[in-house]
Amino acid sequence: MQDSSAAPELRVCAATDLVNGGLGVKVPVSDGSGRTTAFFVRYQDRVHGYLNRCAHVGVELDWEGSFFTRAGDLIMCARHGATYKPDTGLCVGGPCKNGRLTALSVEERDGGVYWRPAGKIRPAEDTPA
Ligand code: FES
Repeated sequence: MQDSSAAPELRVCAATDLVNGGLGVKVPVSDGSGRTTAFFVRYQDRVHGYLNRCAHVGVELDWEGSFFTRAGDLIMCARHGATYKPDTGLCVGGPCKNGRLTALSVEERDGGVYWRPAGKIRPAEDTPA
């Protein structure tokens, strides 16, 4: 049986828009407490999506869509430098070590990247301003 609280699947971008360790794609979302963004990146050929909220202070992680360290092996918060494993969202360095990003359900198929919203995190268009 399907979860009746699930929102319709959203096509985030073309699969080719995400390259390993490259820029992320951001989508405006609401998480029930306010508006922010979600982000989608590619790491080791797989796509991953997270709520764009650092486990340290709760601000957005990126600087103009850039989420990765220069080496492309970790996600790094632009504010104070916390680092996260791109495939799990686990914080492995910085002020919120052992914290975690909120992972989203993401799938790549037919040349596209798709997010299936669930819980409180929804595309911002779905919610009143
Ligand atoms: S807000 Fe991200 S490391 Fe401080």
